[in-house]
Amino acid sequence: MLLRLLPCLLFGVSNTLAIIAPKVFIFTMFDLEANAWFGIPEFNTPIAPVMASYVFLTTGQAEINAAATISALVYSRTFNLTSTYFLVAGIAGINPKVTTIGSVTFARYAVQVALQYEIDAREIPAQFPTGYFPQGSTAPGQMPGSWDGTEVFEVNENLRQLAAGYAKTATLNDTAAAQAARANYSTGAFLKGASAPSIVLCDTATSDVYWSGNLLGEAFENTTTIFTNGSATYCTTQQEDSATLGVLMRATMFHLVDFSRIIIMRSASDFDRPYPGQNGVANLLGDAPGINPSLLNLHLAGVKVIQGIVNEWDNKYAHGVQADNYIGDVFGSLGGEPDFGPGSIFKGAA
Ligand SMILES: *[C@@H]1O[C@H](CO)[C@@H](O)[C@H](O)[C@H]1NC(C)=O
Ligand SMILES: *[C@@H]1O[C@H](CO)[C@@H](O)[C@H](O)[C@H]1NC(C)=O
Ligand SMILES: *[C@@H]1O[C@H](CO)[C@@H](O)[C@H](O)[C@H]1NC(C)=O
Ligand SMILES: *[C@@H]1O[C@H](CO)[C@@H](O)[C@H](O)[C@H]1NC(C)=O
Ligand SMILES: *[C@@H]1O[C@H](CO)[C@@H](O)[C@H](O)[C@H]1NC(C)=O
Repeated sequence: MLLRLLPCLLFGVSNTLAIIAPKVFIFTMFDLEANAWFGIPEFNTPIAPVMASYVFLTTGQAEINAAATISALVYSRTFNLTSTYFLVAGIAGINPKVTTIGSVTFARYAVQVALQYEIDAREIPAQFPTGYFPQGSTAPGQMPGSWDGTEVFEVNENLRQLAAGYAKTATLNDTAAAQAARANYSTGAFLKGASAPSIVLCDTATSDVYWSGNLLGEAFENTTTIFTNGSATYCTTQQEDSATLGVLMRATMFHLVDFSRIIIMRSASDFDRPYPGQNGVANLLGDAPGINPSLLNLHLAGVKVIQGIVNEWDNKYAHGVQADNYIGDVFGSLGGEPDFGPGSIFKGAA
């Protein structure tokens, strides 16, 4: 399933040597997410009278597959991606303190939460609330003493707002089974987990390990807060986005892509922790009735975002959406001063 390209609107270019410059590149991570884009009416008719409006690929799941596949894409130079908008469109776990299954979220921060020290739960000191603690620290709750740089990526906030605005014009799918599942969260801190699905601005956590449970959920909420100095809100959980962003940041340094043109859209398929009275294993292995609506909502919301970009291409998107916030990694690799974490090691210069 690697690099399966959908030549939606590429008619007319196959006999030329022109390098295709897609307006939007959709990144899906596995076959169910990819299938969500097939057989939908919007992909059978041009959404604008232009060639090469959008293409997509499937990276394979987890961090290594995402980084390797997207590296292959950008360095192959098969496409001219300098003006391309990247739409990460995947399903994810969801924190019921923030929103619910079926919701579609747009992230400003991606946090690589498992890039830490870990001691097995059965061996942790009595005063540790979790086995995870930051590299270069001596206990949970401390700032990292050393950083690898990929712990946090921040993307263009103005573009995020525009994308979420387009997505809000979509009518989201929901099902009776998803409604029954979320109803069990209608207590205390999880009330938002029992609310109707919606478009939500909140941040994403990456880890190869697929976790479930209250304690790991809370530990990685804490990690998100610590790594971003309180800037990010942990809501979705997935296995690729920090890797994707690490590749796109390096490709930006080589002037092959533009890091200010990235949208991280994740729809919520399942809860990252059990409802009161359930255990973490049952949450992980039980039915996930959020999967169907979350897959449908990827394209229901995503098509609105793509149409918004393509329809206003000439007067707005071709020349880019100015980022007024810091964009990039922990180190300030693209220039500017990170508005979270330890500050730029490049002193603001790219
Ligand atoms: C890529 O597209 C940009 C404009 O979007 C153009 O300036 C540049 O020359 C193109 N590069 C190649 C290698 O075609
Ligand atoms: C959601 O999609 C399912 C499956 O296609 C469909 O049966 C259901 O009516 C849809 N619900 C809404 C609210 O659109
Ligand atoms: C809701 O919780 C009850 C136990 O309190 C459980 O029996 C039921 O299966 C749960 N419903 C769903 C849809 O998960
Ligand atoms: C999360 O942080 C809070 C506040 O520092 C702390 O009380 C709690 O024990 C931490 N939870 C976990 C699971 O690390
Ligand atoms: C963290 O945020 C506080 C204010 O909330 C600020 O005073 C402090 O300088 C920030 N620290 C870093 C390392 O950015």
